[in-house]
Amino acid sequence: MIRALSGLLWLDAASRTAACTVFAVGKAATKDGSVLISHSDDGDPQNDARLLYVPAADHRPDEKRPIFYTAETFPRYLGDHMGPDYRPNADTKGYNVSEPIGYIDQVPHTFGYQSGTYGVLNEHGVSVAESTCSAVFGTCGKGSTVGCEPGRKVGAALMSIDTLSYLAMERSRTSREAVELMGQLASKYGFYGPPDSFEGSGESLIVGDPDEAWAFQILSDPTGTSAIWVAKRLPDDQMTVVANMYTIREVNADDKDNFIVSPNLFDVASSKGWWKQGTAFDFTLMYSGGEYAHKYYSGRRMWRGLQMAKPSLSLPTSYEDIRYKPVYPWSVSPDTKVSHHDLMSWHRDWYAGTEFDMTKGVQAGPFGTPDRYQTTSKVQGHWERSIALYRTNAVYVQQLHHPGEGRPQGTASVAWYAAGPPHYAAFVPIPSGVNETIHALQFANPKQFENYSMNWLVRRVMDVCQIRFDVMHKDVNNAQQAAESDADALLEKVRQAGTTSPAELNKIFQEHASQVLQTWKKLMPYLLFRFSGNTDIETMQSLSYPDAWLEASGYKDGPPDAPKEDKCPPKCDLDGENVVV
Ligand SMILES: *[C@@H]1O[C@H](CO)[C@@H](O)[C@H](O)[C@H]1NC(C)=O
Ligand SMILES: *[C@@H]1O[C@H](CO)[C@@H](O)[C@H](O)[C@H]1NC(C)=O
Ligand SMILES: *[C@@H]1O[C@H](CO)[C@@H](O)[C@H](O)[C@H]1NC(C)=O
Repeated sequence: MIRALSGLLWLDAASRTAACTVFAVGKAATKDGSVLISHSDDGDPQNDARLLYVPAADHRPDEKRPIFYTAETFPRYLGDHMGPDYRPNADTKGYNVSEPIGYIDQVPHTFGYQSGTYGVLNEHGVSVAESTCSAVFGTCGKGSTVGCEPGRKVGAALMSIDTLSYLAMERSRTSREAVELMGQLASKYGFYGPPDSFEGSGESLIVGDPDEAWAFQILSDPTGTSAIWVAKRLPDDQMTVVANMYTIREVNADDKDNFIVSPNLFDVASSKGWWKQGTAFDFTLMYSGGEYAHKYYSGRRMWRGLQMAKPSLSLPTSYEDIRYKPVYPWSVSPDTKVSHHDLMSWHRDWYAGTEFDMTKGVQAGPFGTPDRYQTTSKVQGHWERSIALYRTNAVYVQQLHHPGEGRPQGTASVAWYAAGPPHYAAFVPIPSGVNETIHALQFANPKQFENYSMNWLVRRVMDVCQIRFDVMHKDVNNAQQAAESDADALLEKVRQAGTTSPAELNKIFQEHASQVLQTWKKLMPYLLFRFSGNTDIETMQSLSYPDAWLEASGYKDGPPDAPKEDKCPPKCDLDGENVVV
């Protein structure tokens, strides 16, 4: 795809896709007073869906922190630097150990955290949620020759959003600290967007902690050696959504409680003639590349996210170009207080009950699947893009709370983790006091089925549900509700018992995840058996087809009815003459 950017021609390779949806809700808008943030990691099959624990560590004064190139393919990192679970093992056999592309100063102590492609949750309850965004400037990573901007042969920028998010986990006790740290490192060492990405050279994070959440939106600067970024605090009574397009509009850099900005934010726009001192500064208008993939790719999910939180507000479903004329507010105050279950169900949304319901129409096939696979046909067109997506590697909902009454240290903040497309997975809780990798989430080799991998068991359920989505998904939904209410009860029990020892927390939450894994292992063969041959095996009744699909499918134009038996034989009178019936 060739797209004109500020008079330059920018060649984007359409080779990889990743597109994530992010929600955040302030602590005054949630049921239990926690800050809620969430992220669907919507990669392609080559992405790395593992959740691995990076232990806390002490470092020598002269130590350097190596920085690695983050290609986002499996395995995302291989070596000694991120703890034992990132070391080469049978699962990563045949892959090369990662080589640093540069170094920065190390700090005396780094915190322990759960890591996916991005940081998920550290021991202080600092969390991130990521969504790739289009941007007007982009560059390639240090030493790389892939995806460089015109005029550059080799990349100079050291920091990707993946690396920045890991550094935030290692070094931050609060979301504000995390945002300041990431901004400073990106300005100093340069920022590069996802490699070979058709979609966006920019990035965004929601960074949360038990007090507040910040939206952090970043791109490389025009020299390819620094970064342009802005962070905006989410008001406590609001929720926001990010769906592959920047959302921060007017920036008030003087309001230091609510904005943190890179030193070059205004100068770059001004030097290009895009902005004049003394006028309102709109970050998205200046630096976003707008919606990518197709129109409504971002806006539809923004609309849906905001509407699910605030149904009383009526927002338009169509617009001209949301980059130039925003039609959605950047945040809304939810009609009712939001729980972690609400975020889980928002991530499972396929526009049910709206005019865009993806389980309706011929596109959904005979059995109403909401899933739309990638097309490689010469037939031109686009599918609607819902928040739920078949190629999601993992979704996490981070429920962040300070320790206190009924919430001891170690279980106050929790990452709820669904190891695959959320409409086929159960969320399992991982409190911040767990200090090891959850075995069920440790493996997800994209080229090898593993019966001990939650990710593979979830994918298998998804694939089988395509046989008869409408009836099969009901059983999946029941299994999800059961697993998640068990998890709520377990968490409550552990909190009431006052358990804080990592060893005990590890054991309890390992066991829970393993039980869910066993349930999911049985779910796929159960579904195959239960509805074998499009028959309800309990009643032995055919499950048939929906009328609307038969009407649309050409069924009525199939072979005609059987010929009538109206001739002799057997319709004969006694003289052997034909009888007309
Ligand atoms: C987990 O916590 C326990 C207790 O503080 C500690 O002994 C152990 O070394 C920790 N494990 C890791 C991997 O950090
Ligand atoms: C490992 O590195 C070698 C040498 O650079 C390269 O030829 C090979 O393709 C790499 N293997 C993988 C799996 O990336
Ligand atoms: C995976 O399958 C192997 C071989 O059938 C079996 O021994 C093992 O117990 C299974 N693992 C799990 C976690 O179900």
